[in-house]
Amino acid sequence: METISTRRSNCEIFTGSSAIRMRAAEVAFRQSYPAFENTSLLDELREREYARLDEQGHLYLDYTGGSLYAESQLREHLELLRRHVFGNPHSSNPTSRAMTELDEQARASVFEFFHASPDEYFIIFTPNASGALKLLGEAYPFTPGGHYLLTVDNHNSVNGIREFARAKGAAISYLPIMLPDLRVAEQELFSALEQAREDSHHLFAYPAQSNFSGVQHPLEWIEVAQARGWDVLVDCASFVTTNRLDLSRWHPDFVPISFYKMFGYPTGVGCLLARKAALAKLCRPWFGGGTIWGSSVQGDGYVFAEGEIAFEDGTINYLQLPAVEIGLKHLTAIDMEMIHERVMCLTAWLLEQLLSLRHCNGATLVQVYGPHDTDRRGATIALNFLTPDGRIVDERVVEQRANKHKLSLRTGCLCNPGATEAAFQQSKAALLRIYQQAERRSWKQFLAVVGDWDQLLTEVGMQSGGAVRISLGLVTNFADAYRFLQFAQTFLDTFPIESDILPRPHC
Ligand SMILES: Cc1ncc(COP(=O)(O)O)c(C=O)c1O
Repeated sequence: METISTRRSNCEIFTGSSAIRMRAAEVAFRQSYPAFENTSLLDELREREYARLDEQGHLYLDYTGGSLYAESQLREHLELLRRHVFGNPHSSNPTSRAMTELDEQARASVFEFFHASPDEYFIIFTPNASGALKLLGEAYPFTPGGHYLLTVDNHNSVNGIREFARAKGAAISYLPIMLPDLRVAEQELFSALEQAREDSHHLFAYPAQSNFSGVQHPLEWIEVAQARGWDVLVDCASFVTTNRLDLSRWHPDFVPISFYKMFGYPTGVGCLLARKAALAKLCRPWFGGGTIWGSSVQGDGYVFAEGEIAFEDGTINYLQLPAVEIGLKHLTAIDMEMIHERVMCLTAWLLEQLLSLRHCNGATLVQVYGPHDTDRRGATIALNFLTPDGRIVDERVVEQRANKHKLSLRTGCLCNPGATEAAFQQSKAALLRIYQQAERRSWKQFLAVVGDWDQLLTEVGMQSGGAVRISLGLVTNFADAYRFLQFAQTFLDTFPIESDILPRPHC
């Protein structure tokens, strides 16, 4: 237990008796979760590389939103830029060649990190996971007779692909998720997968880890769907933050990723890992600089370049790509298994503690959406605080209070409207009523048509606009979890009042 008493705790927030209570809680936690001891290197790493968190008293719990970067990542990247002269990689001059070499090195490091074989996969660099998804959606050969099947639990950028499917006349169907765990009923999935016709293309999309509930949907579905003629898109954007994705074990056709969610820096770079056989089916709706071998104005034609090059529009974010390699090296040096172990110990403890909180009248304080234990889930928890009479505390009130505590969390529907609708049991009829009026309007125009949004939500029986999400990551420590628990306790036996809160967007 030496590690507890000698280490500088996260900020000097806990002093005197509160520090003693925190230490006692940590001792009990470590006794219940002995595996946590094996992750103490991460405490040292936090002190060394992420000291700004504690120096400034931040409680950062939005790792699904974006991970945090180590100081050495910045140093190494900036030093590299400082020492060299780099040009646009689209040429063969010396500065261009130097850049191309480093960018290809970055691509090789992505292959290596995910154990993806260059014989099987292409890696297409994109601005982010959404960019990867759009690239796929616009080029996927949807036709009448084809099908886009997706889980209700999906990020909006996966939902958005349905508009490409719709425009091309393909069928669109959603697989529901069930309360209380917010998982898919597998029998429904298996019967939906039987519907693939041989003469058209079928795409099945789901997240490896929900960005709403943290549920991990089975990677075993990949083979099941492929065996029935489906191409499989597994959105790994939130999964890879604290889990190892091994593409020598799993072989999804398409995997979108945003690197800042893994190691914080750089932003503006993501990728689409695409199986070569699946990528060959795609049909790009345009060509642009960098994607073609040649084109002609008078000849009115163009010839695409080979492989990933045909999908990397314009100039890639070339100066940032070496920082991707640096970030992956950083994670490799830490070991993803250690990060996973740590966040799952803390998630288990937090779930247990939060779910045991009671108001004086015995009513529960916290409603957790999704699994209440760590079975097949990640380190993301969606919840709401409840008043002693069982009403949901407006998530905007929670956010306001969190801001005052320097606590960074997320609220709302978290870009995952399907999971939110399922969690809050929002009715299809009500949502149809709202969104049939919403189509292709700006928010302002929409409000002019539907009137007061909050009132509308109440009218259609929606209890709340959204959830509160906390997500743990790379350098979360016990003190962070403890501090969040203390924050939660400030809602005990209270009826928080809404003041100065902004109107709530839906999603
Ligand atoms: C599961 C999931 N998919 C896709 C995305 C989109 O990522 P980006 O905003 O980086 O494009 C996110 C972002 O939070 C996500 O959590």
